[in-house]
Amino acid sequence: MHDFLTPLTESLADGKFISLTMSKPRGPRADDAVNRITVRLVEVKGQTLFQWTYQYSKREVHENLSASQVTERVAQEFGSVFKHAHLFTADVDIAARSNKLGDCRVTISPASKRAPASVSHDRQKQYLIPEGQPCPFLHELGVMTLDGRVHRSMQHKFRQINRFLEFVEDVIPHLPAEGTLDVVDFGCGLSYLTFALHHLLAVIHARDVRILGIDRNSQVIDRCTHTCGKLNLEGIEFTADTIDAQHTARKVHLAVALHACDTATDDALAQAVRWQADVILAAPCCQHELAPQLDSPSLSLLTRHGILRERLAAMATDALRAAILEQAGYRTQIIEFIDTEHTPKNLLLRAVRQTVPAIDANQEVRINEFKMLLGVDHIRLEELLAGHSSE
Ligand SMILES: C[S@@+](CC[C@H](N)C(=O)[O-])C[C@H]1O[C@@H](n2cnc3c(N)ncnc32)[C@H](O)[C@@H]1O
Repeated sequence: MHDFLTPLTESLADGKFISLTMSKPRGPRADDAVNRITVRLVEVKGQTLFQWTYQYSKREVHENLSASQVTERVAQEFGSVFKHAHLFTADVDIAARSNKLGDCRVTISPASKRAPASVSHDRQKQYLIPEGQPCPFLHELGVMTLDGRVHRSMQHKFRQINRFLEFVEDVIPHLPAEGTLDVVDFGCGLSYLTFALHHLLAVIHARDVRILGIDRNSQVIDRCTHTCGKLNLEGIEFTADTIDAQHTARKVHLAVALHACDTATDDALAQAVRWQADVILAAPCCQHELAPQLDSPSLSLLTRHGILRERLAAMATDALRAAILEQAGYRTQIIEFIDTEHTPKNLLLRAVRQTVPAIDANQEVRINEFKMLLGVDHIRLEELLAGHSSE
């Protein structure tokens, strides 16, 4: 054992550690026992830590540990629980096998993995779903190979999925810390992001979830249901329906609407507000409601150009949505979703329900003045929420 722990401790201390795997559990095993443990470097708020991952057959549990905690845990687990350990460092690979008597045979071979970039410089971005680590749902959806390599043509999708998960990760503190999390994804389409949500909440965070993906296109819903069955996932289901139908009488904690077309976003926001969802994440798309209504002499230098009229209408729609959500008791931000390189649909409305809503008596006045400036009357979200109180 000593022969393995020494180089491990040294590599953790001198920055040459790349990753570690422990496998081949010893003896008879319960159904839900850990199959494998992996350890890799992560950077959390500028600090280098080691992500310790317990891999079960259907889920993973992650913990971020210090170097000394890693050595301590490996000393506990290697030999007694796992027969094999494989350490990858910048200089060498070290494979260790332990027998029942506690003896350890170590084989040293040339380094097979590239050393990580220095922690402080140019470190490769650590995604919540890292490249190089097999991820069954991404393989099933054609984003990754079985062994975790992202297909070249799916790099953008992979980045978008991880970016979205970072936003969800940020709002987790606003969701209940215990119990089942109820999530609705409006206009889920082929559900890359719905499955990603499930992965983040149910696999990475090991939470009980009930995720409902809704889309009016029954063909995509059939595909999602098929994928779900193939992956044998629990806590996620799909229904072919329109967003404005009543889908659940339960409390919904997180409501998501990503690129739902035009005013479908408003239908989703209104449903989420009526349910008093704790968090709403919505990426608006093709906002056509205001463009034909815009009628303002003061803005005519803008509105006489079709393209500028469309863009102004889209921005005004989202500004009004944010203001109406604030009026309904949500702290609302509009942030950039993904880089503009591939799509102009790059905004995300992030709304967090305030337990004690900050009532702003002037908000209604501001909304009406803004509508007057634009010369518009009908705002779908406002109409859908007429009479709704933020209490
Ligand atoms: C552009 S796709 C987005 C899919 C997915 N959310 C994403 O971001 O990858 C928009 C989806 O919204 C669905 N949709 C649009 N309006 C809807 C409505 N009123 N009710 C239900 N689904 C709707 C469409 O069928 C389509 O699948």
